[in-house]
Amino acid sequence: MGRELIVSGVDKEMKLALEKYEEPKDIKRVLSGMRPTGRLHLGNYFGALKPWLELQEKAESFFFIADWHAITTSYHDTKELSENTLYMMADWIACGLDPEKSTLFVQSWVKEHAELHLLLSMITPVRWLERNPTYKEMMENLKDRELATYGFLGYPVLQTADIVLYDADVVPVGVDQLPHLELSREIVRRFNRFFGELLVEPRPYLSRAPKLPGLDGRKMSKSYGNCIYLSDSKEEVERKVRSMITDPARVRKTDPGHPEVCTVFTYHQIFSEKERVKEIEKACRRGEIGCVQCKRELAERINSFLEPIREKRQELLKNKSQLIDVFKDGSERARKIAKVKMEAIKEAVNFLRS
Ligand code: TRP
Ligand code: SF4
Repeated sequence: MGRELIVSGVDKEMKLALEKYEEPKDIKRVLSGMRPTGRLHLGNYFGALKPWLELQEKAESFFFIADWHAITTSYHDTKELSENTLYMMADWIACGLDPEKSTLFVQSWVKEHAELHLLLSMITPVRWLERNPTYKEMMENLKDRELATYGFLGYPVLQTADIVLYDADVVPVGVDQLPHLELSREIVRRFNRFFGELLVEPRPYLSRAPKLPGLDGRKMSKSYGNCIYLSDSKEEVERKVRSMITDPARVRKTDPGHPEVCTVFTYHQIFSEKERVKEIEKACRRGEIGCVQCKRELAERINSFLEPIREKRQELLKNKSQLIDVFKDGSERARKIAKVKMEAIKEAVNFLRS
C-alpha cells in the first residue's frame, strides 16, 4: 500500500469508504482529535484540518490535542511532547481554527477522559481490541518498540471516551480511523445495553478532498521524510518542490509529458486555478512547458498559500503563555460538559455518590 502512487487523488480504499458512509446530515456536535507528533505538514492540512475548518462553520465543534494518545506509542521518549503540543496549538490557530467558534482543548487537561477510559475498559472485551486492524498494522510497522502494552491495546477505548463525553454524533476522521470508530459504536451499544441509553453512537465524517501525496508520490508522512511542513521556509519549499518526482518518461522539455503520473501536477490541481491547470496539462502533453518552470510556478503557489500561515504561526509562538491560555479556556469549557456527562455515567453505573 505504501508504494502505491496516488494519481487521481482518491484511492480505492477511499472510494469504498465513501460509498459505505454517506455524508452525515443534521449534525449536532462535532468532535475530533489529533496526536501531537510534530509540526503539521500539508497532508495534515488537507486531510484533517481543512475539513475541521469547514465543520467549525456549520456545527458546534470540539477539537483537541490527543496528548494521552501520543504516548501510547511514544512512551519511551516523551522529551518533545510538550513542545509538539505547543506547535500543534500554533499550527491550528494559524490555519484558522478559531477559539471563538470551536472549543479547542488539550485531552490531558480534561481529567474525565482518563476517568471514562477506565470505566469503558471494564466493559470492552479484549478480543474486540485484538482484532482491530489498526492495532495489528501498527504492531507490524513499529517493530522497534514494545507495543504489546495495556495502554496501546486500549487506544480505541480512550478514543471512545473522548467522543462520548461530549455526546458528539459526528467525528471527522481519515479512512485509517474507520475501524476505531466502528469499535466506538460497538462499545457505546454495549454500554447502553448494560446501563441505559446514555451514550451517543458516533458517525464518521470523511473528507471528500483528494489526498495530497508526498514529494516522492507516496502518502505524505513524517516517517517517509517526504513532507512539506506548514512551517517550512520559502527556500525549503522551493528546494523540496525541485526534488519532486515528475513524469519519468520526460527527459527533455520537448518530450510529451503525462501529467496524470506527475506529483507536481497533482499539486497544481490543488494549488492553481482551474484554467491554469488546464493550460499546464495541455502544455505538458505537447512538450511545451519544462518541468523546471512548472515546478517554479508550483513553489510560488505553495509559498503564497503558506506565507500568511507561517507569519501567524511565528507570531503566536512569540507569546507562548497567551497561546496556552487559549487552550486553557477551551479546556475549561470542555471540562464543564465532560464533568456533567461523567456524573451521569457514574450515576447510571450505580456508584455511591458522596
Ligand atoms: N486516533 C486519532 C488519530 O490518530 C486521534 C484521536 C484521538 C481522535 N481521539 C480521537 C480522533 C477522538 C477522533 C475522535 O488521528
Ligand atoms: Fe509534471 Fe509539470 Fe513536468 Fe508535466 S511539466 S511532467 S506536469 S512537472
